Amino acid sequence: MARFTQEQVDDLNSRIKTTEDALQWASDNLHPKVAKASSFGAEDAVIMDIMLKINPKFRFFTLDTGRLPQETYDIIDVVRKKYNISVEILFPDANEVKEMVNQKGVNLFYDSVENRKLCCEIRKVHPMNKMLATLDGWITGLRRDQTKIRQNIRIFQLDQGHGGILKINPIIDWTWEQIQEYIKKNNLPYNSLLDKGYTSIGCEPCTRPIKPGEDLRAGRWWWEQGEHKECGLHIDP
Ligand code: ADX
Ligand code: SF4
Repeated sequence: MARFTQEQVDDLNSRIKTTEDALQWASDNLHPKVAKASSFGAEDAVIMDIMLKINPKFRFFTLDTGRLPQETYDIIDVVRKKYNISVEILFPDANEVKEMVNQKGVNLFYDSVENRKLCCEIRKVHPMNKMLATLDGWITGLRRDQTKIRQNIRIFQLDQGHGGILKINPIIDWTWEQIQEYIKKNNLPYNSLLDKGYTSIGCEPCTRPIKPGEDLRAGRWWWEQGEHKECGLHIDP
Protein backbone atom coordinates (compact mmCIF):
# COMPACT_ATOMS: atom_id res chain seq x y z
CA MET A 1 0.00 0.00 0.00
CA ALA A 2 1.53 3.29 -1.12
CA ARG A 3 1.23 5.76 1.70
CA PHE A 4 2.59 8.73 -0.26
CA THR A 5 2.39 9.81 -3.89
CA GLN A 6 5.20 11.12 -6.08
CA GLU A 7 3.33 14.44 -6.32
CA GLN A 8 3.39 14.82 -2.53
CA VAL A 9 7.09 14.01 -2.46
CA ASP A 10 7.87 16.50 -5.26
CA ASP A 11 5.90 19.16 -3.39
CA LEU A 12 7.89 18.51 -0.19
CA ASN A 13 11.18 18.77 -2.10
CA SER A 14 10.14 22.06 -3.67
CA ARG A 15 9.15 23.61 -0.33
CA ILE A 16 11.59 22.13 2.19
CA LYS A 17 15.29 22.66 1.60
CA THR A 18 17.15 22.54 4.90
CA THR A 19 18.13 19.83 7.36
CA GLU A 20 16.23 21.47 10.22
CA ASP A 21 13.07 22.11 8.18
CA ALA A 22 12.99 18.51 6.91
CA LEU A 23 13.33 17.14 10.45
CA GLN A 24 10.77 19.58 11.82
CA TRP A 25 8.35 18.44 9.10
CA ALA A 26 8.98 14.80 10.03
CA SER A 27 8.35 15.59 13.69
CA ASP A 28 5.12 17.48 12.97
CA ASN A 29 3.72 15.08 10.39
CA LEU A 30 5.12 11.59 10.92
CA HIS A 31 6.20 11.14 14.55
CA PRO A 32 5.97 8.57 16.15
CA LYS A 33 5.73 6.55 12.94
CA VAL A 34 9.13 7.80 11.80
CA ALA A 35 12.56 6.71 13.01
CA LYS A 36 16.20 7.41 12.28
CA ALA A 37 18.29 4.48 11.03
CA SER A 38 21.66 4.87 12.72
CA SER A 39 24.89 3.03 12.05
CA PHE A 40 26.67 5.30 14.56
CA GLY A 41 29.04 6.80 12.03
CA ALA A 42 29.85 10.53 11.81
CA GLU A 43 26.72 11.46 9.84
CA ASP A 44 24.50 9.79 12.42
CA ALA A 45 26.12 11.71 15.29
CA VAL A 46 25.20 14.99 13.61
CA ILE A 47 21.64 14.09 12.62
CA MET A 48 20.81 12.61 16.02
CA ASP A 49 21.96 15.80 17.73
CA ILE A 50 19.87 18.03 15.43
CA MET A 51 16.85 15.70 15.74
CA LEU A 52 16.90 15.72 19.52
CA LYS A 53 17.01 19.53 19.59
CA ILE A 54 13.81 19.49 17.52
CA ASN A 55 12.00 16.63 19.27
CA PRO A 56 13.51 14.85 22.30
CA LYS A 57 11.12 11.95 21.66
CA PHE A 58 12.28 11.17 18.11
CA ARG A 59 12.93 7.42 17.62
CA PHE A 60 16.22 5.77 16.67
CA PHE A 61 17.02 2.24 15.61
CA THR A 62 20.13 0.34 14.70
CA LEU A 63 20.69 -2.98 12.97
CA ASP A 64 22.88 -5.15 15.14
CA THR A 65 24.23 -7.61 12.59
CA GLY A 66 26.10 -9.56 15.28
CA ARG A 67 29.35 -8.52 13.56
CA LEU A 68 29.62 -4.85 14.56
CA PRO A 69 32.93 -3.45 15.88
CA GLN A 70 33.23 -3.09 19.67
CA GLU A 71 33.71 0.67 19.14
CA THR A 72 30.18 0.86 17.67
CA TYR A 73 28.67 -0.98 20.63
CA ASP A 74 30.57 1.42 22.90
CA ILE A 75 29.22 4.56 21.22
CA ILE A 76 25.64 3.23 21.24
CA ASP A 77 25.78 3.14 25.02
CA VAL A 78 27.51 6.52 25.32
CA VAL A 79 24.82 8.13 23.14
CA ARG A 80 21.98 6.45 25.06
CA LYS A 81 23.29 7.88 28.30
CA LYS A 82 24.24 11.34 27.02
CA TYR A 83 20.83 12.06 25.51
CA ASN A 84 18.81 9.84 27.85
CA ILE A 85 17.15 8.09 24.92
CA SER A 86 16.50 4.50 24.03
CA VAL A 87 17.90 3.10 20.80
CA GLU A 88 15.84 0.26 19.34
CA ILE A 89 18.28 -2.53 18.54
CA LEU A 90 17.16 -4.84 15.73
CA PHE A 91 18.47 -8.36 15.20
CA PRO A 92 18.50 -10.76 12.28
CA ASP A 93 16.39 -13.91 12.39
CA ALA A 94 18.44 -16.51 14.31
CA ASN A 95 17.36 -19.40 12.07
CA GLU A 96 18.29 -17.56 8.89
CA VAL A 97 21.75 -16.78 10.29
CA LYS A 98 22.18 -20.35 11.54
CA GLU A 99 21.32 -21.86 8.18
CA MET A 100 23.56 -19.42 6.30
CA VAL A 101 26.70 -19.86 8.39
CA ASN A 102 26.28 -23.62 8.69
CA GLN A 103 25.98 -23.96 4.93
CA LYS A 104 28.47 -21.35 3.79
CA GLY A 105 30.82 -20.63 6.68
CA VAL A 106 31.00 -17.89 9.27
CA ASN A 107 33.17 -15.68 7.05
CA LEU A 108 31.24 -16.42 3.85
CA PHE A 109 31.38 -12.79 2.72
CA TYR A 110 35.04 -13.08 1.64
CA ASP A 111 34.25 -15.95 -0.75
CA SER A 112 32.08 -14.18 -3.34
CA VAL A 113 30.00 -11.06 -3.96
CA GLU A 114 26.97 -13.34 -3.96
CA ASN A 115 27.77 -14.61 -0.46
CA ARG A 116 28.50 -11.11 0.78
CA LYS A 117 25.16 -9.87 -0.48
CA LEU A 118 23.40 -12.85 1.10
CA CYS A 119 24.97 -12.02 4.47
CA CYS A 120 23.93 -8.33 4.17
CA GLU A 121 20.46 -9.44 3.11
CA ILE A 122 19.99 -11.69 6.13
CA ARG A 123 21.79 -9.60 8.74
CA LYS A 124 20.64 -6.12 7.62
CA VAL A 125 17.99 -6.00 4.92
CA HIS A 126 15.47 -8.46 6.38
CA PRO A 127 15.40 -6.90 9.87
CA MET A 128 15.25 -3.44 8.28
CA ASN A 129 12.27 -4.48 6.12
CA LYS A 130 10.41 -5.71 9.18
CA MET A 131 11.02 -2.42 10.98
CA LEU A 132 10.07 -0.24 8.01
CA ALA A 133 6.79 -2.12 7.59
CA THR A 134 5.72 -0.52 10.89
CA LEU A 135 6.64 3.06 9.90
CA ASP A 136 5.41 5.83 7.59
CA GLY A 137 8.89 7.25 7.17
CA TRP A 138 12.56 6.69 7.96
CA ILE A 139 15.49 9.03 8.23
CA THR A 140 18.99 8.28 6.93
CA GLY A 141 22.45 9.83 6.94
CA LEU A 142 22.99 9.46 3.19
CA ARG A 143 25.09 12.18 1.54
CA ARG A 144 25.50 12.93 -2.15
CA ASP A 145 29.29 12.92 -2.13
CA GLN A 146 29.52 9.40 -0.64
CA THR A 147 29.17 7.52 -3.96
CA LYS A 148 28.22 8.02 -7.59
CA ILE A 149 24.91 6.22 -7.04
CA ARG A 150 24.09 8.60 -4.19
CA GLN A 151 24.67 11.78 -6.26
CA ASN A 152 21.01 11.93 -7.32
CA ILE A 153 19.30 11.50 -3.96
CA ARG A 154 16.77 14.08 -2.76
CA ILE A 155 15.81 15.12 0.77
CA PHE A 156 12.41 13.42 0.40
CA GLN A 157 12.06 10.21 -1.58
CA LEU A 158 9.21 7.82 -2.18
CA ASP A 159 10.49 4.48 -0.91
CA GLN A 160 8.79 2.09 -3.30
CA GLY A 161 10.83 -0.83 -2.02
CA HIS A 162 9.28 -0.38 1.43
CA GLY A 163 5.59 0.02 0.71
CA GLY A 164 5.62 3.63 -0.46
CA ILE A 165 6.74 5.16 2.83
CA LEU A 166 8.88 8.30 2.92
CA LYS A 167 12.64 8.11 3.01
CA ILE A 168 14.07 11.32 4.40
CA ASN A 169 17.72 12.17 3.79
CA PRO A 170 18.17 15.46 5.66
CA ILE A 171 21.92 16.01 5.16
CA ILE A 172 22.37 15.16 1.47
CA ASP A 173 24.43 18.28 0.71
CA TRP A 174 26.66 18.33 3.79
CA THR A 175 30.33 17.69 3.03
CA TRP A 176 32.58 15.41 5.09
CA GLU A 177 34.34 18.56 6.39
CA GLN A 178 31.04 20.12 7.54
CA ILE A 179 30.15 16.91 9.37
CA GLN A 180 33.47 16.89 11.22
CA GLU A 181 33.20 20.60 12.01
CA TYR A 182 29.72 20.15 13.53
CA ILE A 183 30.92 17.27 15.69
CA LYS A 184 33.87 19.29 17.01
CA LYS A 185 31.99 22.55 17.49
CA ASN A 186 29.20 20.86 19.45
CA ASN A 187 31.53 18.52 21.28
CA LEU A 188 29.46 15.50 20.23
CA PRO A 189 30.37 11.98 21.27
CA TYR A 190 31.49 10.01 18.21
CA ASN A 191 32.61 6.55 17.20
CA SER A 192 36.33 6.30 18.09
CA LEU A 193 36.95 4.49 14.78
CA LEU A 194 36.68 7.92 13.11
CA ASP A 195 40.02 8.91 14.63
CA LYS A 196 41.55 5.78 13.11
CA GLY A 197 40.62 6.69 9.53
CA TYR A 198 37.28 4.93 9.25
CA THR A 199 35.25 7.40 7.18
CA SER A 200 32.40 4.90 6.71
CA ILE A 201 31.57 2.39 9.42
CA GLY A 202 29.94 -0.98 8.89
CA CYS A 203 30.55 -4.50 10.18
CA GLU A 204 33.95 -5.27 11.69
CA PRO A 205 35.10 -7.93 9.17
CA CYS A 206 33.93 -5.82 6.20
CA THR A 207 35.31 -2.37 7.05
CA ARG A 208 38.79 -0.94 7.20
CA PRO A 209 40.27 2.57 7.40
CA ILE A 210 40.86 4.42 4.13
CA LYS A 211 44.30 5.41 2.88
CA PRO A 212 45.10 9.04 1.96
CA GLY A 213 43.41 9.97 -1.33
CA GLU A 214 41.00 7.05 -1.27
CA ASP A 215 37.25 7.43 -1.71
CA LEU A 216 35.35 7.90 1.61
CA ARG A 217 33.67 4.50 1.27
CA ALA A 218 36.70 2.62 -0.07
CA GLY A 219 37.11 0.85 3.26
CA ARG A 220 33.75 -0.94 2.92
CA TRP A 221 33.99 -4.48 1.44
CA TRP A 222 37.48 -3.37 0.40
CA TRP A 223 38.27 -6.65 -1.34
CA GLU A 224 35.45 -6.05 -3.86
CA GLN A 225 35.82 -3.92 -6.99
CA GLY A 226 33.14 -1.85 -8.73
CA GLU A 227 29.88 -0.10 -8.25
CA HIS A 228 27.97 -2.72 -6.31
CA LYS A 229 29.44 -1.63 -2.96
CA GLU A 230 26.06 -1.21 -1.25
CA CYS A 231 24.57 -3.54 1.32
CA GLY A 232 21.05 -3.40 -0.09
CA LEU A 233 19.54 -1.02 2.49
CA HIS A 234 19.51 1.78 -0.05
CA ILE A 235 18.78 0.04 -3.31
CA ASP A 236 15.66 1.38 -5.02
CA PRO A 237 14.10 -1.50 -6.97
S1 ADX B 1 25.42 1.03 3.84
O1 ADX B 1 24.18 0.75 3.07
O2 ADX B 1 26.60 1.12 2.99
O3 ADX B 1 25.61 0.16 5.00
P1 ADX B 1 26.14 3.50 5.01
O4 ADX B 1 27.05 2.86 5.98
O5 ADX B 1 26.75 4.33 3.92
O6 ADX B 1 25.13 2.45 4.37
O7 ADX B 1 25.11 4.36 5.84
C1 ADX B 1 24.12 5.13 5.22
C2 ADX B 1 22.91 5.20 6.12
O8 ADX B 1 22.30 3.90 6.17
C3 ADX B 1 23.20 5.53 7.58
O9 ADX B 1 23.30 6.90 7.81
C4 ADX B 1 21.99 4.93 8.25
O10 ADX B 1 20.88 5.78 8.08
C5 ADX B 1 21.74 3.66 7.44
N1 ADX B 1 22.44 2.50 8.03
C6 ADX B 1 23.57 1.89 7.59
N2 ADX B 1 23.93 0.87 8.40
C7 ADX B 1 23.00 0.81 9.38
C8 ADX B 1 22.80 0.00 10.53
N3 ADX B 1 23.64 -0.99 10.87
N4 ADX B 1 21.72 0.26 11.33
C9 ADX B 1 20.86 1.25 11.02
N5 ADX B 1 21.00 2.05 9.94
C10 ADX B 1 22.04 1.85 9.14
FE1 SF4 C 1 27.65 -9.57 6.65
FE2 SF4 C 1 29.73 -8.00 6.13
FE3 SF4 C 1 27.24 -7.37 5.26
FE4 SF4 C 1 27.91 -7.22 7.87
S1 SF4 C 1 28.72 -5.97 6.14
S2 SF4 C 1 26.06 -8.04 7.05
S3 SF4 C 1 29.26 -9.02 8.09
S4 SF4 C 1 28.55 -9.11 4.65
